Amino acid sequence: MTKHFLTILDLTRDEAFAMVRRADEMKRAGQRLDLLRGKTMVLVFEKASTRTRLSFEVAVRHLGGSTIFMTDRESQLGRSEPLKDTARVISRYADGLIVRTFGQEKLEELVRYASVPVVNALSDQFHPCQVMSDCLTMYERTPDLASLKVAWVGDGNNMAHSFINAAALFGFELRLACPRGFEPDEAVVKRAKGLGARLTLCDDPALAVKDADYVNTDVWASMGQEHEFDDRLRKFGAFQVSEELLALAKPTCKVMHCLPAHRGEELTEAVLEGPASIVWDQAENRLHMQKAILEWIYS
Ligand code: CP
Ligand code: NVA
Repeated sequence: MTKHFLTILDLTRDEAFAMVRRADEMKRAGQRLDLLRGKTMVLVFEKASTRTRLSFEVAVRHLGGSTIFMTDRESQLGRSEPLKDTARVISRYADGLIVRTFGQEKLEELVRYASVPVVNALSDQFHPCQVMSDCLTMYERTPDLASLKVAWVGDGNNMAHSFINAAALFGFELRLACPRGFEPDEAVVKRAKGLGARLTLCDDPALAVKDADYVNTDVWASMGQEHEFDDRLRKFGAFQVSEELLALAKPTCKVMHCLPAHRGEELTEAVLEGPASIVWDQAENRLHMQKAILEWIYS
C-alpha cells in the first residue's frame, strides 16, 4: 500500500517512537543507504523554503536517490494547470512527491490522484516533518518524552497543530498560550484530546512557560498571512519569548524555534543567541528526520 505522510497522526504511536529512534540512530551512524537508488523525488513548493527543501534534497541523495525541485512560478501550476493533473503526470515520471502548499485539502487531493507517496513539507494546517524532527531534538536530550512539559507561546498555527498531534502520540504535556482569536483549530485539539493528549490552552504566556522543559515559538504571521502582519504585531506583543519570560521555566529549559526567526518579535535576540537556544540543532535534525521519514515510506 502507498504510504503518505500528511500529518503526524498518519503514524501509529509505535511508528512515531520508532521514527524518532531511527533518526537518532542514523544521525549518530552518519548512515547512507541505497534505499532510494534509482528513485527520483519531485519537490513541488508553492511557498519559500530553506531548511525543508535543502534537508530533503540532501536526505534523498544520502539515500541514493535524486530530486527535482519545482515551484508554481516556473511550471504550469502557476498558469492554472490543476494540481490533480500535475499529480498524475508527476506519478508517471517520479517515485514520490514532497509538497509545500497552502490548504491541507490540496495535499488530500494530491493523494487521491497521485499513484506515488505524497509528503507534506508544510501546509497552512500542519508541519509534520518539522515537528517530528523537533521531537528528535527533545529526545536527544530527554529520551523519556512523556515526562516533558512543553510550552507553545504564540500563534495557534501549523506548527502548533503538529505539536498538538505530537503530544497525542508521544505523551508529553503541552501548554499553549495564544492570543485570543489566534487559538489552534478546535477540531485538531478535539482529535488529539480524544487520543489522550494532555493539553492546556490559555492566553497567558507565564502560565504556559511555568516549569517548562522546552519553550517553543514561531513567527507571528506565517507564509500567506503577510497582509495580517500589522494587526498581529499589535495583538501578539505580550507573547514575546524574552529572558524575563524564560526565567519562569525550569533553569535547564531549552528554547526551540523552527526558523526562520524574527528577532525582536516572537523572541528576543538575547534568547535566540543565548545558552538556552537549541535552534541550530533543530535545523540540523531536519536532515536526519527526513531520512527516517523516507525510510518509513519506502521500506
Ligand atoms: N522550518 C522550516 O520549515 O524552514 P523553511 O521554511 O526554511 O523550510
Ligand atoms: N508557521 C511558519 C513556519 C515556517 C517554517 C509558516 O507557515 O510560515
